[in-house]
Amino acid sequence: MFNPCKIQDNLYWVGAIDWDIRFFHGYTYTTRTGTTYNSYLLRDEKTVLIDGVHHNFSGEWIERISEVIDLKKIDYFICNHIEPDHSGAIPKLMKLLPKIKIITNQKAKEGLDKYYPNNWDFQIVKTGDTLKLGKNTLRFIETPMIHWPDSMWTYLEQEEILFSNDAFGQHYASQERFDDEVDFGLIMDENAKYYANILMPLSSTILRKLQEIQKLNLSIRMILTSHGLNWRKYPDKAIESYLRWAKGESKEKVIIAYDTMWFSTEKMATAILEGITAEGARAEVYRVPISDLSDIMKELLDAKGLLIGSSVANNHILPTITKLLAELKSLKPLNKIGAFFGSYGWSKDAPVKELEAEIKEAGIKLVLPPLNIKYAPSPDELKQCFEFGRNFAIEIKK
Ligand code: FEO
Repeated sequence: MFNPCKIQDNLYWVGAIDWDIRFFHGYTYTTRTGTTYNSYLLRDEKTVLIDGVHHNFSGEWIERISEVIDLKKIDYFICNHIEPDHSGAIPKLMKLLPKIKIITNQKAKEGLDKYYPNNWDFQIVKTGDTLKLGKNTLRFIETPMIHWPDSMWTYLEQEEILFSNDAFGQHYASQERFDDEVDFGLIMDENAKYYANILMPLSSTILRKLQEIQKLNLSIRMILTSHGLNWRKYPDKAIESYLRWAKGESKEKVIIAYDTMWFSTEKMATAILEGITAEGARAEVYRVPISDLSDIMKELLDAKGLLIGSSVANNHILPTITKLLAELKSLKPLNKIGAFFGSYGWSKDAPVKELEAEIKEAGIKLVLPPLNIKYAPSPDELKQCFEFGRNFAIEIKK
């Protein structure tokens, strides 16, 4: 079993590493190496456990905590978020230690009561409330919809440590616990994937809340998240990245996502790519059924443009593209422009209307008329595709 990790005097990581999980939330978000459920033990005159773990790891969580402290010495459990990846093991903890006081906010209490009917001892806190532990004081900051209504952060004042729960986390399992122990590009890539696939639709709330929190002038030396690696060297970069993404800032980059039946739409995609790059913009091409949707969403996070291509079958766009559109409608990428292309046999207009409605619902602004080509593109039509790509790149650069 992996040992507890001493972060600094009297503060330990006592979470769990889930090397096996490959689909988080049970569907599109894939993890490359798994994830972690981070939990922290802080010792002072009063001892506090901050954040829990997934039900599957309740046994090893308790064992790991026991390696640091006699369980009976725990006074408080702080629940920053009730989603079961963090709350699933609470019933086991409370069965062993029914006298622990659970510190959380009202929304979280309501959620815990619903998930795990109980008679636990709660202390309800709200933004600005503090809890004195001895030398240390914890301050609570409610962060509703980053990313559930109950979400909350806990700030350790004397040490300037923020326990941010899901925020700034990554679904990444490794033996390391900190940002300065891995390649910086790796942690930012996983950070972006997490933001794109979980937080992107909440960007306006996140921006407002982050700006509110900036006004509190908290000095943040370290961010301890509930998933993946922690930010002890680059906490500012973690916050900056969220501000950038929440504002919808993007690069001159285009994502071309398509599917094809007889490779006509694929030929169009290639010619469009050449047009975009000829104009000096960057483009990435994904054939949707053989690509990872959550990676496409991560790449889309800092791209300005999205081109969607589909062949037509039975008067509809292909089901793989329907699935892509469903994900776009769910995640609502910010400030993107788009256009549509594809080949058809005998039904041109109905699929275009279908696709235009869906793209608009995803909040993507269409900036070019669709490019539809019958059966296979001729050499002249491939030139049209090239020009379509160039024109889109011009829109990207505006
Ligand atoms: Fe990691 Fe929202 O739970």
